[in-house]
Amino acid sequence: MMIMEVYLDNSATTKVRKEVIDKMLEVLEEEYGNPSSLHRKGYQAEKLLKEARENVACLIGGRPEGIIFTSGGTESNNLALIGVAESLKKKGNHIISSTIEHPSILNVLKFLEESGFKVTYIEVDKKGKVNPEDVENAINDKTILISIMAVNNEIGTIEPIEEIASIAKRNGVLFHVDAVQAAGKIEIDVKKQKLDMVSLSAHKIHGPKGVGALYLSEEVRIRPIIFGGGQEKNIRSGTENMPGIVGFGVASRLAKESLEEVSQKLMGLKKRLWEGISSEIKDVHLNGPEVEEGAPHILNVSFRGVRGEVLLHALEEEGIYVSTGSACSSKKRGGSHVLKAIGLKGDLLEGAIRFSLGIFNTEEDIDYTVDILKKKVDFLRRFKRR
Ligand SMILES: Cc1ncc(COP(=O)(O)O)c(C=O)c1O
Repeated sequence: MMIMEVYLDNSATTKVRKEVIDKMLEVLEEEYGNPSSLHRKGYQAEKLLKEARENVACLIGGRPEGIIFTSGGTESNNLALIGVAESLKKKGNHIISSTIEHPSILNVLKFLEESGFKVTYIEVDKKGKVNPEDVENAINDKTILISIMAVNNEIGTIEPIEEIASIAKRNGVLFHVDAVQAAGKIEIDVKKQKLDMVSLSAHKIHGPKGVGALYLSEEVRIRPIIFGGGQEKNIRSGTENMPGIVGFGVASRLAKESLEEVSQKLMGLKKRLWEGISSEIKDVHLNGPEVEEGAPHILNVSFRGVRGEVLLHALEEEGIYVSTGSACSSKKRGGSHVLKAIGLKGDLLEGAIRFSLGIFNTEEDIDYTVDILKKKVDFLRRFKRR
């Protein structure tokens, strides 16, 4: 018998859209030129690069010239933080961020602290929210940068980036937003929201892995962290990853075109999943924001008395793929820094599962998942009591 396959780990990565694959294959097979070459093949590649840049910029309402292509969200975050720190170190050495950022922010901050920078980590409330007032109070005359994520990857909290951006502007401090989990799910508009720098990643929006972008507004000047032939305005040298970039462009265009439809669909599925879980299974706890307040694609739930990892593998046996925390932290010991930051302890910390939805999920997937969850949780709880 074929078991159903239900992929609910879309915050870790997503399935690539067919339109993206087709365009990438065209680049690999035919448009293989180097955009820096002076001949026709190079010119054609340059045209594709320009088109991709326009599509990615359009996803966040930005100028195409502000897009710097990178190898993904991790590199974009490294480039933003180290790039600003290096270029503004004469002005100041203080950075503000939050305790629930992705490791590609937190570990860069640790590195910067080792090199003499001071970092204030803003604590979040029980729903994972940063209070903009805390950010304002943390600013001092040495503050050069604020970096706060738009959507948390483990619990789906939507941070008040617009308010933080106003505070940053008022105080003459640069504001960077890790929008890797937000793009394509909620509106990100660099002009309206007054964002100076934004990190993006293609593989979270049904594009390929290993490609992303850092958006820089006109006023921002950063030092490169990779040196070479001067590509990407001398900010990110290296021959462009053309298949990846072009795929990212297509994924961005589709994400932009379907933003409203997708976010409504995902929110509908998320609500269905939570209603199913909370009505069918006892002793469950919603981690993070209320269902309708969070990002449409992330639901984090603890099942009291069941270890998250055990449940993950029990679900896997039935073709359901979920996560215990973020993909990056799930193999590390000690529990998620995000769940700890919102005050989770003991049973609830150990029993957390992240369900993350994507465009290919259906209501049938959700109903099947609730059904299997109920059986597995019942079984594991009974098994534990024996
Ligand atoms: C919020 C956030 N930032 C950054 C990243 C890193 O992106 P990438 O996998 O493209 O390096 C991730 C990936 O999980 C993420 O969720």
